[in-house]
Amino acid sequence: MSDADDSTRNFRHVPVLRDEVVAAFAPVPPGWVVDGTLGGAGHATAILDAHPHLSVLGLDRDPLAVQVATERLARFGDRAHVVHTRFDRIADAMSLLRRTRTTADTPEAEIPTGLSGILLDLGVSSPQLDRGDRGFSYRNSGPLDMRMDPTTGRSASDVVNEADHGELVRILRRFGDERHADRVARAIIEARPITTTAQLADVVRDAIPAAARRTGGHPATRTFQALRIEVNDELAQLEAVLGDALDLLVPGGRMAVITYHSGEDRIVARRFRDAAADDCVCPPGSGSCRCGGAPSVKLVPRKAITASEDEIAANPRARSARLRVAEQLGEAS
Ligand SMILES: C[S@@+](CC[C@H](N)C(=O)[O-])C[C@H]1O[C@@H](n2cnc3c(N)ncnc32)[C@H](O)[C@@H]1O
Repeated sequence: MSDADDSTRNFRHVPVLRDEVVAAFAPVPPGWVVDGTLGGAGHATAILDAHPHLSVLGLDRDPLAVQVATERLARFGDRAHVVHTRFDRIADAMSLLRRTRTTADTPEAEIPTGLSGILLDLGVSSPQLDRGDRGFSYRNSGPLDMRMDPTTGRSASDVVNEADHGELVRILRRFGDERHADRVARAIIEARPITTTAQLADVVRDAIPAAARRTGGHPATRTFQALRIEVNDELAQLEAVLGDALDLLVPGGRMAVITYHSGEDRIVARRFRDAAADDCVCPPGSGSCRCGGAPSVKLVPRKAITASEDEIAANPRARSARLRVAEQLGEAS
């Protein structure tokens, strides 16, 4: 058996809030749901099994996830399509799907341009964290990499070994809420070159004052989170997709986003709240809104959904998960 076979077979990721995600897409009109963070296709499989009126266009920037998900979704035939791309390129992936599916029997005009749903389950998958060679974790030593798509972009090693003190401090504070960012940045610069996750974890632990080391888990957790977010441009990716994703939904279509830390959740909550706000200043009785201030979505439910105690006990990753769902307004066709 080849290493590639092993990697796909051993790709295990338990989908967080799976039943809640499936329920969120139950009322949407028939059509396509984009799963922008396909991973091991856990959510996608559950959606396709539960909802015969839906098909899934799955995207992932990780080539291994694409390979695994393609195999796992093969049993759904034409109802599933997988593309290796980032989720800020949903519109391009939809065009690709339309071109791929256009045949003499299915003219392009019959393939809907709007989406019934969009799902984002942010962050990293368990295999990305667990495999030492991906360089995401201090628990499994490996080369400092942290790229979800290892074929492109700056690795964590590039950042750690090339960034100046100011840039390191900015990354550690902004993406890791690291109170000791200045000390950690200085220690990193003194210890260069740093080539492995284990070496970085040791450098960070030694830089954090002893009193602060005794609380809040491994002292390198915040540094690793910050570097991962920087390397994968995670918050900019999220802002970019939220910019126009809601407009891609048909009336009654829904967007569901699962976040795992407060920085992400704030971005999603703000975007959904703005889209749901009623700022219409059209004169009363003037018919449909012309000023652009009318709400374009409603939040279902209004607040974030969190995991049950049972789910958290079975899957600790679920502890910090927050699911927000927005529904495009208007008459469902
Ligand atoms: C938490 S996992 C998703 C797991 C999946 N829901 C499941 O049930 O198996 C997140 C996945 O999103 C991918 N990902 C993260 N950011 C992405 C982006 N900007 N574009 C595309 N894929 C992304 C990661 O590579 C990873 O495979």
